[in-house]
Amino acid sequence: MAAELSCFEEKCRARFPITEAIYNCPRCGGLLEAVYDPPEQSAPMLRRMWRERRTSNAPLDQSGVWRYREFIPFLSSYNCVVTLREGNTPLLESQQAARYGGLDRLTFKHQGFNPTGSFKDNGMTCGAAQALRLGMTRVACVSTGNTSASMAAYASAAGLQPIIFIPHGNISYGKLAQALEYGARTLQVEANFDQILALVRQLADRLGIYLLNSINPFRIEGQKTIMVELMDQRDWRPPDWVVLPGGNLGNTSAFGKALREMKELGLIDRLPRLAVIQAEGAAPFYELMRGGKRAQFSAVEHPETLATAIKIGDPVSWPKARFEVATTEGVVEKVTEQEIADAKATIGRCGIGCEPASAATLAGIRKLTAAGTIAADADVVAVLTGNVLKDPDYIYRYHTGELDAPDGTRLRSTFGNPPVVVPNDAERISKILGDH
Ligand code: F0G
Repeated sequence: MAAELSCFEEKCRARFPITEAIYNCPRCGGLLEAVYDPPEQSAPMLRRMWRERRTSNAPLDQSGVWRYREFIPFLSSYNCVVTLREGNTPLLESQQAARYGGLDRLTFKHQGFNPTGSFKDNGMTCGAAQALRLGMTRVACVSTGNTSASMAAYASAAGLQPIIFIPHGNISYGKLAQALEYGARTLQVEANFDQILALVRQLADRLGIYLLNSINPFRIEGQKTIMVELMDQRDWRPPDWVVLPGGNLGNTSAFGKALREMKELGLIDRLPRLAVIQAEGAAPFYELMRGGKRAQFSAVEHPETLATAIKIGDPVSWPKARFEVATTEGVVEKVTEQEIADAKATIGRCGIGCEPASAATLAGIRKLTAAGTIAADADVVAVLTGNVLKDPDYIYRYHTGELDAPDGTRLRSTFGNPPVVVPNDAERISKILGDH
């Protein structure tokens, strides 16, 4: 099957060999995407084959990414694939979260169940495979934490050297700890995500390092499988809405591409609408989409949010994300720090839990149902992007009433659940807990 890189810009659409180590179109500077000839198999054949692979013990089939390899056929051989059994993430329903969001029912697709605890693993197994195929020895990324944790794990598992660049003091300890443990050369730069990305793009060429940020089109291919697995789990019935947080907008681009391609192949019969939720202090995409078709993109110079995963003011993938949101007749919403914090605690109370950026989904749903954009009886899937343990510091502060927003205002501990210090005394403890 022929696979190529294609410029995403409609006016250019230049094609390049799939084996070129490029991140932007050499002709016009546009974003790149992988394009393929259609698969040989029909939609029913693909569905059956993918379902049958769930019972296989072959590593490639056990991966929730490579199981769907006919949908991401950029490799010519699977010898270079390193899988940690990424994907395979559950659909979890919660009545309590649905009620909070103003819905009759709500399903979470929890990407925090991935090997390194975030959706980045779906993309990273593909990025690492492409790096190996190209004969690279070093890979790098700039990250708000999850990409670096994931890249560190996959690169080390693949025998590549991971080099990560992170904004000093601005990523959660859970994520930084993962990068160190998985053996990444870790450089903490005194700059924000957007500034470091510009720096790393210069360095990548100079040092011959392969870049695994989400501008890397193969990461996007891997993240497409989140939507394929979702449809497979729902027996190919698309929901009305797919809600996700937006930061660098790689996931929005990947989901949109996956949905379009599934529809083209006849795997689904209609497109769900995408709802992208941003944090109020880092919402350039919200502003762009609010401005209508002709609006110019304008970066947020000093993005601020406690949801550090999505603290991004100049998202590289905005042209793709704009196209995908428009194609699905989607919407973009923004939510406050308080709304994120309370939605997060609600998801926790359901026994599900997630990191702050992920909770933007439920906060956004609550706003969108209140505004009548999403109907109460709509079939909604919210994608929880990261695990609850990614940012324990945030959780402790929220529950103990010590969580301050970036502007210094103290957030309300609306659903606070502080720990209680008790003496080593059975009598007094039974009093506190209430005798039978
Ligand atoms: N949720 C989590 C938990 C994330 O880590 C990220 C992005 C997003 C949402 C936003 O996804 O960028 O595709 O729009 N984290 C990146 C990182 C930027 O470096 O880990 P996006």
